[in-house]
Amino acid sequence: MMPAPSPVDAYWLDRATALVDWIKVPTQGGAFSFHTPVSIRWFQDGILNVTTTCVDRHAAATPDRVAFFYEGEDETQRQTITYGQLQDHVCRFANSLKALGVAKGDRVVIYMPMIPQAVYAMLACARIGAVHSVVFGGFSAHALHTRIMDCGAKVVITADGGTRGGKVIALKSAVDEAIPETPVQHVVVVRHLGQDIPWTAGRDHDYGDLQKAAAPICDPEPMQAEDPLFILYTSGSTGTPKGVVHTCGGYLVYAAHTMQTVFDPKASDVFWCTADVGWITGHSYIVYGPLSMGTTQVLFEGVPTWPDASRWWQMVDRYGVTIFYTAPTAIRTLMRLGLDPLNTTHRSTLRLLGSVGEPIDPEAWHWYHTHIGGGRCPIMDTWWQTETGGILMAPLDHTHQKPGFAAKALPHIQPVLLDTHGQPTADEGNLCFATSWPGQARTLHGDHARFEKTYFGDFPGFYVSGDGAKRDESGDYRITGRVDDVINVSGHRLSTAEIEAALDDAHGVIESAVVGVPDPLKGQGIYAFVVLASDVMASDALTKDLMDHVRTYISAIAKPDHIQFCDGLPKTRSGKIMRRILRKIAAGESDFGDISTLANPEVVAVLRRTTGV
Ligand code: PRX
Repeated sequence: MMPAPSPVDAYWLDRATALVDWIKVPTQGGAFSFHTPVSIRWFQDGILNVTTTCVDRHAAATPDRVAFFYEGEDETQRQTITYGQLQDHVCRFANSLKALGVAKGDRVVIYMPMIPQAVYAMLACARIGAVHSVVFGGFSAHALHTRIMDCGAKVVITADGGTRGGKVIALKSAVDEAIPETPVQHVVVVRHLGQDIPWTAGRDHDYGDLQKAAAPICDPEPMQAEDPLFILYTSGSTGTPKGVVHTCGGYLVYAAHTMQTVFDPKASDVFWCTADVGWITGHSYIVYGPLSMGTTQVLFEGVPTWPDASRWWQMVDRYGVTIFYTAPTAIRTLMRLGLDPLNTTHRSTLRLLGSVGEPIDPEAWHWYHTHIGGGRCPIMDTWWQTETGGILMAPLDHTHQKPGFAAKALPHIQPVLLDTHGQPTADEGNLCFATSWPGQARTLHGDHARFEKTYFGDFPGFYVSGDGAKRDESGDYRITGRVDDVINVSGHRLSTAEIEAALDDAHGVIESAVVGVPDPLKGQGIYAFVVLASDVMASDALTKDLMDHVRTYISAIAKPDHIQFCDGLPKTRSGKIMRRILRKIAAGESDFGDISTLANPEVVAVLRRTTGV
C-alpha cells in the first residue's frame, strides 16, 4: 500500500486535482532538496497538457464565453475572442508550427507586441510540447540575439511591428538583425500594422497564410508534469541573463491556485492585468492563471497615457472591468497627471485592485484606493518573482489593509527572515523560503550550477529571494527592495552588471559602475559612473552616445538617467567596486561611513565634488 501523503502534499494534490485537467492524475506531491544537489519536483507521476485546462475544457463547456476583449493602441482595432475561437486559433497555430518541423522539447522564441496572437503563440507551443521563451518586445536586437542563442531556438514568432505611445516598434527588422548565426530556421510574422517589411523567402512565413492552410484540430501532446513549459529570461547579479525554467504541472497548478486564491474570478468578472506577456506577470496572470479558470479578460496593446491619461479608465468602463491588476510605476505616473483624466469615467464596476512588481508607496496606494477604486476595493499588493512562478504573498484578508505591506504568505508558503549569517531574525532580514511550492522555478536553462549558487548558495537549505523585508508585530511583511546588484526600474528588473557590460562595450570606456538611485516616478533610476580612456574627452554628445549604446545593446528601459564621468571608482584593496558608496553619492548623501579601508579613498571626495553634493 502507498503511504498516505503528508498534510502539505495532500493540500497540493487536492489543489492539483481541483484546478487542472490531467491525462493521468498525480499521486505524488513535492519532492525537493534545497541543499546541493538542489532538486525540485512536483506531481512527478502526473501527465497533462496545459492547454486542455486553459482552452479545451472552456471551449467545450462555454464556447461563447469571452476569453479576451482585445483593444489595439489604435482604439478602432477591437476584437472579441471567445473560448471557442481561442481553441481554433491555438490548434491551427499548433499545426502550423508542426508543419515547420517544431516538435516536443524544441524552443520557440516569441517576440511580439501585446496582440492576441502572442497568447495564441504561447499556447500553440504548449499544445505540441514546444518550450516557449517570450522576449519582451522592448528588448533590442542584441538582447534578442543573446536569448535566442542561449535557448537554441529554431523558430521565432514575431510581428511586422507594434505601437507604443504612438511610436512604431520595428520588431521584424530587429529579428532580421538578431538571427544571423543562430539556429533559427523559420520566422513566423503576424502582419499587425500592415507595414512593408523585408522578407526572406523560405525562412519567413506569413502567419495569416499558415493559419488558413492549417487544420483546426490538433491533439494535445501528453506531457510529464516535470517537462519544461517555458523559459523566461530575467536579470541577475551578473551580465548574463538567466533563463528561468518552469515546468508544466507545478507551474500550472500554482498559476491557477493563486489566481483563485488572490483574485477569485467568477463567470461575471472581467479581469484586466496590464502587464506585457514578455514578463512573468503576463505569463501567469494573462495566460495561464486566468485562462485555466475560464476568466474573461481585457488585453491591451497600448500604454496608459496614450492618447491621454484617461485611456485605461475608459476601457475599464467600456468592458465593465471588475478586477484590475497593475504596477505601482503606472499608478505613480497617472497620479502625477492629476484627477482631470478621471472625470470622464466612473470605474464603478471595479471590485478588487492589484499591484505588482515593486513596493507600492503609501501615497500611491491611497491614490489608487481612493480615486481608482472609489474607496471600496481592497488592494492586493502581491509579492512574487519570475522564479516563484506565481504570487507568494498578498493581503488575502480584505478587512486588514495596510498600505505598503504585501502582508502575509499564502497557505503553505514558509517565509523566513535571515541575517547575513543565515540566522533567523525577528523583524528584518533577507527574505528566504524554507520549503518549496509547486510554482517554483526548477533550474536555469543550461546552468543548474548557477541556479544552485544564486538561490541556495548563501544560505543552504533556503530559497533566497534577493529581496530584503521587514516583519511587524502582526506578522505582516513589508518588502524593502533588492539586496543584490539588481535594480527595479518601473517594475522592470535590470542587472547593474548587464548595463555595465553595455557601457564597457562602447568605444572609449575603460570601466563603469551602475547603481540604482531613488526616483519618484520609476521607483529606481539608473545612475552610471564611467571612467573614460585618457584620450577621450567627456562631453554631452558622448553622454548621449553612451545612452544610445545601452538602448541598442539592451533596451530603452535600461538607458541610464545620469552618466557621471570620473577618473576612478572607489575600490577595496582586492579591487572590488564599492557600490555602497556609489549608491550614496548618486543619491546625494554624504555619510559614507569609514572609507579608510578603500584602496583609493581620495576618489570619493572627487566624486562628491563632481556631483556637486
Ligand atoms: O524586488 C521584488 C520586486 O520585483 C522583483 C521580481 O521581479 P520580476 O522577477 O521581474 O517579477 C516581477 C513580477 C512578479 C522582486 O524580487 N517585487 C515584485 N512584487 C513586489 C515587489 N516588491 C515589492 N512589493 C511587491 N508587491
